[in-house]
Amino acid sequence: MFKAIRGTKDILPAEACLWQTIEEKARDIFSLYGYRQIRTPIIEEASLFSRSLGKSSEIVQKQMFQIQRDKEVFVLRPEATAAVVRSYIENNFDKKQGFAKFYYIGPMFRAERPQKGRLRQFHHLGVEAIGSLSPLLDIEVICLASKILNDSGVKNFKIQINSLGCIKDKQRLAESLRSKLASKLEKLCPNCNDRFKRNVFRILDCKEETCRKVCQGLKLEEDNLCPDCSRHFQQVKDGLKSLGVQYQVMPSLVRGLDYYTRTVFEIVHDSLGSQDALGAGGRYDSLVSDLGGPSLGAIGFALGLERIIIAKDKTDGKQTGRLVYLIALGDAAKKEVLKLLYHLRNNKIQADTDYQDKSLKAAMRRASDLKARFVVIIGEDEIKSGLVTLKDMESGEQTRIGQAALGERLK
Ligand code: HAM
Repeated sequence: MFKAIRGTKDILPAEACLWQTIEEKARDIFSLYGYRQIRTPIIEEASLFSRSLGKSSEIVQKQMFQIQRDKEVFVLRPEATAAVVRSYIENNFDKKQGFAKFYYIGPMFRAERPQKGRLRQFHHLGVEAIGSLSPLLDIEVICLASKILNDSGVKNFKIQINSLGCIKDKQRLAESLRSKLASKLEKLCPNCNDRFKRNVFRILDCKEETCRKVCQGLKLEEDNLCPDCSRHFQQVKDGLKSLGVQYQVMPSLVRGLDYYTRTVFEIVHDSLGSQDALGAGGRYDSLVSDLGGPSLGAIGFALGLERIIIAKDKTDGKQTGRLVYLIALGDAAKKEVLKLLYHLRNNKIQADTDYQDKSLKAAMRRASDLKARFVVIIGEDEIKSGLVTLKDMESGEQTRIGQAALGERLK
């Protein structure tokens, strides 16, 4: 028997409803904030990601699914930021409009060791706003991520923010980290010893207990920021405060991808265990020029859909959907149900019936499994009287109603 590949998962109809609800809410919020959808290909050139995420990033080092065709190397996209920037430049958005706001919803691929909340195919809900250095945009993007989580029914998430500063500030931060860690190398795991040379920031994300202890003991301050970056960060913090958005400043938050500059943020939730990030993002003010475009500020984030679903408050879901489930008792009733089904659907009322000749009890069970809002029962009595039985599945109330009035009632 074939099975889905480890780290991938079928999203079956019962769960897909929840996905659709979250995606629809997110789409509404994205457009409310002026973001327009972009759909980039699932496969891209491998070098797009090594160039933007950094050769020493965990993703490029170990997690890309590669496809080799003759001399070309493609990968299944591990994230979308680099792809959106590629598309922005390739499609001349910089020349046509300069500032552009995009959103995307779709699968990403990383060859990680699967565990709770960590898959090899997972889904991002994300945005990229390209062409502005304004701190007001940082505030908008963080508020937007928070709004999507709130409206999706996720409670008690925490927003952590930091500023890495400009490229020069980042270099200073890396040097300061190296000098703080140099005397502690024997306490760090072999991976972190390697990271010390290649990408010192990654040490702060290590999950090994001994490395975490070393990192917790480090004194990390915001004093690596130049005056411009410091002012930018202050404006972001003040703006968030003025809007009542709660956040924590986390000097150890550095993110594992090379493209980040200035504001970075992560949104975490206790229910997720060791993979506690619901989403993350930040500025990448050098990426557009690094990929061949002009020098433009940009910021974005991506939320992990699977993790939103884990963290979502399971008690707030609706008990029923919009479905009207028709049950026919006997052959004559089946003909009535057939007509009624088509009439309701033509009037944009979601309707379905049982095609398996189930008993009334079994059909009622099916209606409740499908979370039907109403059940309509037609049997011989109903045909004779011209009335159908209508059951409200939320209140349990049962009434008889004429077919003509039924459509209005159901609407
Ligand atoms: P990221 O932190 O790599 O950032 O991923 C964002 C979110 O995707 C994570 O916080 C997590 O919720 C989810 N995620 C990541 N890997 C997995 C996985 N293996 N299984 C399940 N969920 C996962 C980025 O990808 C950046 N492109 C975000 C960004 C956009 N920065 C600026 N713009």
